[in-house]
Amino acid sequence: MDIITKTEKIIKDVLSENNYEEENVVLSVSSRPEFGQFQYNGAMGLAKKYKTNPREVAQKIVDELNKYEIFENINIAGPGFINISYSKKYLTEYLTEIFKDVSENVKKYPKKKIFLDYGGANVAKALHVGHLRTANIGEALKRLANLVGNEVISDVHLGDIGRQSGMVIYQLREEHPEWVFFDENYEGEYPTEIPITNADLERIYPLASTKAKENDEIMEEVRKITAEVDKGKKSYVALWNIIKEISIKNIKNMYTQINAKFDLWEGETDSYPYIDEMLEILKNANCLEESQGALVCDVKLDTDKAEIPPLVVIKTDGTTLYATRELATILSRKQRFNPDEIWYIVDSRQGMYFEQVFRTSYKSNLVDENMKFEFIGVGTMNGKDGKPFKTRDGGVMKLESLLNEIKEETSKYVQDSNMEESEKKDISDKVAVAALKYADLLPNVEKDYIFDISKFCSLEGKTGPYILYSVVRMKSLLAKSNMSDYKMYDIYSQTEKELITKILEMPIRIDTAFRNKTLSEITEYIYELDSLYNKFYAENRILTEQDESKKQTWLFITNLTYKVNKLLLDTLAIDVPDRM
Ligand code: ARG
Repeated sequence: MDIITKTEKIIKDVLSENNYEEENVVLSVSSRPEFGQFQYNGAMGLAKKYKTNPREVAQKIVDELNKYEIFENINIAGPGFINISYSKKYLTEYLTEIFKDVSENVKKYPKKKIFLDYGGANVAKALHVGHLRTANIGEALKRLANLVGNEVISDVHLGDIGRQSGMVIYQLREEHPEWVFFDENYEGEYPTEIPITNADLERIYPLASTKAKENDEIMEEVRKITAEVDKGKKSYVALWNIIKEISIKNIKNMYTQINAKFDLWEGETDSYPYIDEMLEILKNANCLEESQGALVCDVKLDTDKAEIPPLVVIKTDGTTLYATRELATILSRKQRFNPDEIWYIVDSRQGMYFEQVFRTSYKSNLVDENMKFEFIGVGTMNGKDGKPFKTRDGGVMKLESLLNEIKEETSKYVQDSNMEESEKKDISDKVAVAALKYADLLPNVEKDYIFDISKFCSLEGKTGPYILYSVVRMKSLLAKSNMSDYKMYDIYSQTEKELITKILEMPIRIDTAFRNKTLSEITEYIYELDSLYNKFYAENRILTEQDESKKQTWLFITNLTYKVNKLLLDTLAIDVPDRM
C-alpha cells in the first residue's frame, strides 16, 4: 500500500479511538518542509465540529501518533497544523520495499471498467494537430486510469463516414469517370484495389472541399453521394471501403509514432447494426419528435441557464448523422462491454453536442443512470499568433509535418556523436516525440496553448528533452557504476531528504491527476523530481565516493528516482532512449 494511504489510515484509526468522526482524512505535502515532510490539517475542522480547542485536538492526535515507530518529530504549528515526518529506519524499509515495484506507491481505487474514446481521426482527411492532442491526452488518461487500478478499454472512434466520403467520391468520379464504380449498369464484382495513395487522398479531399464551398451545385452532388453511401449504395460503399483501408493504414502509422495504442479500431459505421434498435428505444421512451422533417430529441431542462437545442437524431432526408452514430455506438458499447464509465476526449468545441448526447441517452434509458459519461474537452494548439497552428505557408498543420519539423530540431542533439546513423535517428525520433508529448501534456487539458518548437525542444526548463536528458543520465550512471547490488544505509544530506520526500509525494500527485484528470499534475511532478535529482547529482561525486555505504545509498536513490521516472513516463506514453 502507498505510504500516504497507509498514514491516512493510521490517522483515521487514531481519530476514531478518540471518538472523533472523520470521513475524509487527507495528508498533504508540507508547506513548511523545515517542520516536517507532510502535514495533517484536520484538527481545526474537528475542533469546530466538537466545539473544542484545535490545539487540544491536535495535541491528542500527536500524542497518539508518537506511539508509532514509523514517525519522528511530530509537531504542531500555528492554530493546529500537524507536521509529520517519518523515521529514517522506516524510510529505509519503505523505500527498499517499493524499490522492487514502484507502482506499490500508487493509491489504488476500487476497480471500474472505463471505456475511453479518443483519437477520433477522420478517414481520408489528413491527421492534423487537433487529433494529436486528443490522442496524447487520451492515451495518458487511459494508462493513468489503469495504473490506479481500473480496467480500461480504448477505441479510436474513427470518423469513417460523412461528408468527406461524398467529397472524395465526387472528386474521384471527376478524375476517373471510367472506373466501374461509376458505371450504373455494371453488375460484376467491384475491385478491391484502386491506384490511389494516401498522398493522393490528402490532395483530393481539400480540393473537393474547396470546389464544393465555391459551387452550390457541386455541394449538392456531394450531399447526394454522401446520402447514397450512408444508405448503402453498393458501388460507392465498395469504393469507400478501399479508401478507408488506405487511409486507416496511414492513421495507424501516425498513431504508432506517438505511442497511441487502441484496443478497438472501430469507426462510426461499426454502429450501423445498432441504429434500428437505438431508434426503437428512443421512440418507445417518447424521445423522438418530428421537427421540420427531421427526428429530434428535446433535451432542455428547466434548470438550464442557457438554451440547449434539441438533438437531431435523423436528418430530413432520412439519413443518419454524427449524432445518430454516436447514440448507436453507445448502445453497442453498453451491450458488448457494459462499462461503468465512458470518457470522451475530444476537442472542447464539441462540449454542447456531447451534453445533448448524454441527456438523450439518460432520458431515453439508452443507458441507466449508473453509467457515467465524462466529457473531457481538449483545448487547441495555437501558433505564436494565437490562432490555430498553421504550416509555414499558412496551410493546416498536419501531424506528420509537425513531427518532421520537431525531428529536425532534435536531430541536433545527436549530430556530433559517433553513433550509427540508425541509432542517431532512433534517439532523435524519441526525443522529438517526448518534446511534443510533454509540451502537449504540460498545460491544463482544456487550455489552448501556444506551440513553440524551439522552446519545447530546449534542454532546459519544463521540456521533454530536459526530462529525457536527466533520466538517461541516471541510467548511464547506474551502468557505469558496474554494481547491481546496493542498498540504502542512511540519509546524508538535506537535498537527499528533499528528494526522498518528493518520491513519497507521488501517490498524492497521481491521485490528484486521476481525480481531476489533469495530466499537468504528472508532468509538473516529474520536472520537480528531476530538478531535485539533478541538484543531488551536482552535489555529490557518486562514482568516485570512497565511503561504500554512501556510494551504495546514492546509487540506490538514483535507481529509485529512475524507476519513478520510468513509471510516470510510461503512463504518459513517453519512451526513454538508451542514451542521448
Ligand atoms: N471524428 C471526430 C472529429 O474529428 C471526433 C470523434 C470523437 N468521438 C466521438 N465519439 N464523437 O471531430
